[in-house]
Amino acid sequence: MNEMTAQNLRSAYGGESQAHMRYKSWANKAEQEGFKNVANLFRAVSYAEEVHATNHFRALKDEAGDFQVTAGAGFGLGSTSENLQGAIDGENFEIEQMYPAYLAVAELQEEKQAKLFMKYAIEAEKTHSELFTTAKEAVDAGNDFEVEEVHVCPVCGYTFGNEEHEACPVCGVKREKFISFK
Ligand code: FE2
Ligand code: FE2
Ligand code: FE2
Repeated sequence: MNEMTAQNLRSAYGGESQAHMRYKSWANKAEQEGFKNVANLFRAVSYAEEVHATNHFRALKDEAGDFQVTAGAGFGLGSTSENLQGAIDGENFEIEQMYPAYLAVAELQEEKQAKLFMKYAIEAEKTHSELFTTAKEAVDAGNDFEVEEVHVCPVCGYTFGNEEHEACPVCGVKREKFISFK
């Protein structure tokens, strides 16, 4: 694998791994504050970030070795409203800057698997940003997120609430495979 794509995959792996853990912490905080459905959303998206981290790790299968991984990430346990804003900012950074830049390098270097997993991640992060935005509006109005059950594609991390999908709109996996959180 070209070194620049390998570096980007390692960085993305680091970022996704941290997001996976951060959302678990923020889920517990939401639970404590009485926002049960926001907690559920954070747990579902935490799983989606695990899917992304696992994909990037797989793409790096021939790149064994020890590396320092620098991954931009927010830290801290604020109120659920603040945590949701942190989540929206992180997702939007990935959608607008990080993954498009990494994808451009992977395209230039013709790294097929890296390209596929980065495309999966961008599309999934868009769903996360939208869900977190809707949840924040509810929390800021003093309400819980209205969606009780959240579904995640185990292949690409696409995440959705009340819509009906026979298959994942991003990667095509059949609905029976979706992982549901409630
Ligand atoms: Fe992700
Ligand atoms: Fe995400
Ligand atoms: Fe998918």
